Amino acid sequence: MPKISILPEELINKIAAGEVIERPASVIKELLENSLDANATRIIVEVKDYGKQLLKVADNGEGMEQEDAGKALLRHATSKIKDINDLFAIQTLGFRGEALASIAAVSKLTLTTKPKGALEGFSLMVEGGIVTNEGIVAAEKGTTIEIEDLFFNTPARKKFLKTDAVELKHIVDVVTQYALIHPQVSFRLIHELKELLNSPSVEDWRSNLASIYGVEQAKELLEVQYENNITGIKVYGFISKPYDARNDKTMQSLFVNQRWIRNEELTKVVYDAYHSLLFVNKHPVFVLNLTLDPTKIDVNVHPTKAEIKIEQKKEVAEAVFNAVRETLRKNDLLPVMDFQAEQQLTFGTVLKKEDNKEAQREEKRIGASKYAFEPSEQSALQVKESEAVSYGEEIVPEITPDFTYGSPIIIPTADTIPESDKLPQLRLLGQVHKTFFVAETPGGIVFIDQHVVQERVLYERFMEQLMNQKVAVQNLLRGEVLELTPVQKLLVEENKQKLKELGFVLEEFGENSFVLKAIPTLFGRLQPQELLFEVISELHQHQNRLEQIQEEIITRMACRASVKAGDTLTITEMQRLLYELSQSKFPYTCPHGRAVLIKVSVEELEKKFRRK
Ligand SMILES: Nc1ncnc2c1ncn2[C@@H]1O[C@H](COP(=O)(O)OP(=O)(O)OP(=O)(O)O)[C@@H](O)[C@H]1O
Ligand SMILES: [Mg+2]
Repeated sequence: MPKISILPEELINKIAAGEVIERPASVIKELLENSLDANATRIIVEVKDYGKQLLKVADNGEGMEQEDAGKALLRHATSKIKDINDLFAIQTLGFRGEALASIAAVSKLTLTTKPKGALEGFSLMVEGGIVTNEGIVAAEKGTTIEIEDLFFNTPARKKFLKTDAVELKHIVDVVTQYALIHPQVSFRLIHELKELLNSPSVEDWRSNLASIYGVEQAKELLEVQYENNITGIKVYGFISKPYDARNDKTMQSLFVNQRWIRNEELTKVVYDAYHSLLFVNKHPVFVLNLTLDPTKIDVNVHPTKAEIKIEQKKEVAEAVFNAVRETLRKNDLLPVMDFQAEQQLTFGTVLKKEDNKEAQREEKRIGASKYAFEPSEQSALQVKESEAVSYGEEIVPEITPDFTYGSPIIIPTADTIPESDKLPQLRLLGQVHKTFFVAETPGGIVFIDQHVVQERVLYERFMEQLMNQKVAVQNLLRGEVLELTPVQKLLVEENKQKLKELGFVLEEFGENSFVLKAIPTLFGRLQPQELLFEVISELHQHQNRLEQIQEEIITRMACRASVKAGDTLTITEMQRLLYELSQSKFPYTCPHGRAVLIKVSVEELEKKFRRK
């Protein structure tokens, strides 16, 4: 006897609903998308009992004719695409004609709609996919859809819902995302008479962000505006300054053609662009919309349309990277101390303390490495201009066991570091606690962490040399003989070429020995062999190849080779560091993301002294 039978329509619909409608928030997502596709400018979302009792979306969009309203609830019924060509150039959020049918199959749905110019509206009630009532009603232009008793006929699905709070959070999240990307549309979200979100229609993006994320946050975000003329890819949105990064990832939104998407790869690209500017375990805020050619993306790969396939993957990643990187490069990222905010935000203060601990741990971790090296009595920056040469030249200068600082840098002699395209003018006033420099700047004073300054400077200068394959090396006249353990020897041998690129020239010398002939000049403050052992121990720890941990090694070398808190510096040394900082690309944070400078504005001081 044949065993295969075609499933009844009702069951098919329930199965389809299982894919699209996972939880109350999925309903809201689909309904919002429909309202936006209908060009609504005002959308009100109402929820009762965390979505279990009622989910209601009312819009002032185009509305539907009576005949269309009936069809809207059928599967595969859509006004948005007509043929296969449309499918591959989707301009709307919906296109499958499946959402309403799916929702209707697992709930009690009431649809009320009135198109422009019609005298009366039309209403339709459906229970588990079956029409129970319909008729003419009085209505405003637009469409209202009410969902009661979601999953009343699919108890298994209902059982899998998370806690009320979690389900509500998902709803808030969906509405927030669509409100973020549509400044001109007004959104309200109400739960049990409580307004959870109110984002009025505004012209500009920043005001829109302010109504969703708060004025303080919105004020600090940097605008991203990027377009690649060749690929036509556009990136627009807002990102946070590295120092304003958060402890969680909740304020991160990616959109493609105003469709909210999740994309791990692109998210990673954003992090990469922040690279070396973010503090450990900190997460940037970003709201980015990518405008891509709709024929070059495929939205039809996932039932909830939250994932998409991008044809020009590489180009898109590059555009996102450049957009974020350029924005960070061209903006003033100087953190400003806001006494009032610090006082008010007790929560914030706690976090600050955490940061602090984290920072100390970081310094300790690096400082306490096995090959720790105490800075010499003599000031670490006492510079003997060494004959640094580019790698490959055959010059053997005198041994300079002390710190040397590479090619001479001409710094202005006056005590003021002129404004650069990154940093404002700085007039050095001195050093406090052997830890911070203090400088006057237009509109306030700036505190600068001496260790962090040098870390940033060394890191960038070394990176630049490495990129240009011109690491300046300091030749060691007699060389240093290194006794290596078999494991160390193996590590050196395996990574010899890469070590050479980093500025470590080694020659084999007997069984387990090597002669260290040259080291990278920039890190010359450390004893040559300690510097190399530092690298080797890092290689050992990570059981890794050098290319993969090169960054980490350079960051560590920069940290170790930098002056520490407690080192006394002369005015000239401080000047020099500040000048170098003013020339660096990202002068605001160390490679681990700690702030280099913090500004206290005159305004704040005036407030504190009650002058204003
Ligand atoms: N709020 C609304 N205003 C006006 N028309 C609507 C609204 N909601 C739905 N419609 C109409 O009903 C149709 C069916 O909606 P449904 O969400 O089921 O499918 P879709 O949006 O076309 O595709 P998808 O399943 O991908 O969402 C839509 O194509 C649209 O014509
Ligand atoms: Mg839809």
